[in-house]
Amino acid sequence: MLEVRDLHAYYGKSHILRGVDFRVDDGEIVSLLGRNGVGRSTTIKAIMGDVDRTGSVVFKGRELIGLKPHQIARGGLGYVPENRDIFPQLTVRENLILGMKSTKPGGRWSMQDMFDLFPRLHERAETPGGVLSGGEQQMLTICRTLMGDPDLIMIDEPTEGLAPKMVELVADLLERIAARGVSILLVEQKLTIALRISKRLYVMGHGRIVFEGSADDLKANEAVRKEWLEV
Ligand SMILES: Nc1ncnc2c1ncn2[C@@H]1O[C@H](COP(=O)(O)OP(=O)(O)OP(=O)(O)O)[C@@H](O)[C@H]1O
Ligand SMILES: [Mg+2]
Repeated sequence: MLEVRDLHAYYGKSHILRGVDFRVDDGEIVSLLGRNGVGRSTTIKAIMGDVDRTGSVVFKGRELIGLKPHQIARGGLGYVPENRDIFPQLTVRENLILGMKSTKPGGRWSMQDMFDLFPRLHERAETPGGVLSGGEQQMLTICRTLMGDPDLIMIDEPTEGLAPKMVELVADLLERIAARGVSILLVEQKLTIALRISKRLYVMGHGRIVFEGSADDLKANEAVRKEWLEV
C-alpha cells in the first residue's frame, strides 16, 4: 500500500528526516512513535508533499516524490493533521459533505456510515462544528477525511489532550475503520493505545527509524522504550 524508502526532508537548511524507511500494508494499523521533535509530523508532511523532500514514497504502485500536494491528496491518501481543522461555522453535516471528493462517485463511506460509526455526530448533525468538544472535533475531522474515500489515512496525534474515555472512542473508531479495509498510519504519544490497536509499530529518533516490530516486540524491548520513548 505505502512504501517509504530513504526519505529525507528539509525546512530550508535544516535537514530533519535523515533516511526514513517504513511500510504500511493493506488494512493495517501501523504506528509511528517517538519523542517530541523527532520528525513524526514531518514524515507525514513529506509524504503529502508539504515539505521539501527526497527519496522514494510509493503509494499503490505510484511514486509520489515529484507530485504536487493536490495531486497526492486526490490519489486516495487521507491526512488528518495535528490541528483539528474543521470549519467552525459550518454544521457537522456540512463539514462532512466538504470531505467528499466530487470526482469520485460511489465511495466506500456514506454519511449514514459516519453517523453509525460515531452516533454523537448524528445527534449534533445540525450543530456548528465549532461548538463540539475537542474529542468530537477530532472524530469529525477523521470522518470528514473518510468521506473522501481514502485507501490509507495518516492521522497525527488524534488523542492529544483528550479525556481517557474519548481516547478509547478514538481507538475504537480507528479499529472499525481499519476493519473496513482502510490502512492507517497513526502518529501517537500514548503508548498504551498504539500497542493495543497497531499491528506493527515504528519508533523514530533523530530523523530515522530506530525500531520496527510488533506490539509484543516493543513491550519486551525495554532498552528501546527507555532510550527512545520514555522521558
Ligand atoms: N516549519 C518548520 N520550520 C522549521 N523547522 C521545523 C518546522 N516544523 C518542524 N520543524 C522542526 O523539525 C523537527 C521535527 O518536527 P516535527 O514536527 O516533525 O516533530 P514531531 O516528531 O511531530 O514532534 P511534535 O509533534 O511533538 O512536535 C523539530 O526539530 C522542529 O523544530
Ligand atoms: Mg508532531
